[in-house]
Amino acid sequence: MRNHITILLVFLCVLYSCSNDNIEPFDPNPEPDTTENPTPTPNPTPEPVLEVNAIPVQTQRNGDASIGYQYLISGDYMSSGIPYDAFLTGFGENNANLLGRAGDNAVIPPDYTAVTAPNGVRIVGPNCMQCHAARINNEFIIGLGSHDTDFTIDRSDDITLLNSAISFLYGGQTSDEWAAYDQFRKSIVAIGPKTKTETRGVNPADKITQVLIAHRDKNTLEWSDEPYVEIDNAVIPTDVPAWWLLKKKNAMFYHGIGRGDFCKSFIGSSLLTLTDKAKAEEVDGRVVDVLAYIYSLEPPEYPFAIDATFAEEGKVIFENKCSSCHGNYGSNPTYPNYMVSLNSVGTDPELSNHYSLSSPTNDYFMDWFNTGWFGTSPNPLEIISAGGYIAPPLDGIWATAPYFHNGSVPTLEDVLNSSNRPKYWSRSYDNTDYNQLKVGWNYTTESSKVDKNTYDTTLTGYGNQGHIFGDELTDIDRAALLEYLKTL
Ligand code: HEC
Ligand code: HEC
Repeated sequence: MRNHITILLVFLCVLYSCSNDNIEPFDPNPEPDTTENPTPTPNPTPEPVLEVNAIPVQTQRNGDASIGYQYLISGDYMSSGIPYDAFLTGFGENNANLLGRAGDNAVIPPDYTAVTAPNGVRIVGPNCMQCHAARINNEFIIGLGSHDTDFTIDRSDDITLLNSAISFLYGGQTSDEWAAYDQFRKSIVAIGPKTKTETRGVNPADKITQVLIAHRDKNTLEWSDEPYVEIDNAVIPTDVPAWWLLKKKNAMFYHGIGRGDFCKSFIGSSLLTLTDKAKAEEVDGRVVDVLAYIYSLEPPEYPFAIDATFAEEGKVIFENKCSSCHGNYGSNPTYPNYMVSLNSVGTDPELSNHYSLSSPTNDYFMDWFNTGWFGTSPNPLEIISAGGYIAPPLDGIWATAPYFHNGSVPTLEDVLNSSNRPKYWSRSYDNTDYNQLKVGWNYTTESSKVDKNTYDTTLTGYGNQGHIFGDELTDIDRAALLEYLKTL
């Protein structure tokens, strides 16, 4: 049932703009080059182009982490949804109460919240934990990006059924309950067909945002049934970054376009349900606390044994080959905050290109954010697209498989050996089906796409190429490096 009436939430993974200046050549390997050889090597690997661009610090507002947590799990940043009784009729009671919530939220799953709509009706709407909480090895972790949600489904498929149920339960479409549900319904109808992914486990949040803002005035934020710009059905998939990394980062999102006031972007989620900018202004006063909560999160520790001596050997390799982009860990951590050009990293270019190249939809989105309410109200969000991807901090990297911005690589070992990466792979989506040797999910290599559980890296945006920085390691060095990565 859950997959049926399901919903999703949205969010705002804002869009961008551009400037490709400021790119400096960069040597990721600070060691002197000892490989110089007058005779050509038998297997010459092309030297990667190395261009990085340091992202400047963005000043953030301060908030209170514990108030932020409460707002995150029970606040009314979503203000339209399924009337409470209808929700329980459809979903049943969920008695796990993973978030330890009180009152009528105690029987609601953690990725939904019961709130009172502006007209007084108690409704249930999706919350940030739809995508920003997940289980690994049976532990439920807030801030771990969802890695198994099925977004291959058109979420508007069952809306007619839901409409009839709500109409029937509350006596037609003139009831207060219907009014409290109406915006949610409209948003799901708009999003449904345009945000379907090709495989389970990847996320369409960028696209959800694009569809929602196509239906909203950039200044008043009011809804229009007719979109202001036509949006196609193609979805560029992304993974979901872990929240505990944000405190190190000077830009949000894999493509680094989220600058300025970070928490302003959280209000993007509310675009699923709000009536106009008055609600956005109210939420704006609260999300500062949510950012403080996100900043308070620490990565989970690797739960299995680690060979400390071997990991120390891996640390040396890491510092030689990886630290220049990913930073140093341990007692004196450093993090360079680099955007790395597509030429240098070589991973799937679609997501970056979507934001850095001009197109009618992208020009609309850049203008929408930068010149509308989000970009001009106090503490503005700034959308800047320089192209390329952030070299992310690697804290808790053991827990965040699959890897790269599009989740195309199932294990860290495969990240570090590009020729071994599976072209078609499937996994069980069982959060305990973890591979300690390869560090990531156990997977089966397929010879072609079987069904939605196959990750097909030949699809547009789903490519697993690039990031060849571990390719030349010996097997033993790679294993040592993997051991070290478990400690981060
Ligand atoms: C439908 C799924 C979904 C929902 C719901 C959602 N997010 Fe996200 N969020 C994502 C995805 C996917 C990304 C990465 C997008 C990208 O980089 O292109 C992201 C990125 C972020 C980031 C940036 C992290 C980083 O390191 O760059 C923050 C912070 C964030 N979301 C906070 C929130 C908050 C707060 C809420 C609730 C108000 C929320 N999100 C709701 C999917 C979601
Ligand atoms: C020139 C800069 C650079 C160097 C050097 C580099 N990386 Fe990366 N790394 C990146 C970028 C950029 C990404 C993001 C790519 C993407 O998501 O498409 C990345 C992604 C990753 C990821 C996936 C992160 C995630 O959350 O999915 C891992 C793991 C990783 N790198 C490990 C390493 C290791 C280990 C080394 C050393 C062998 C290394 N990297 C060397 C730039 C670099």
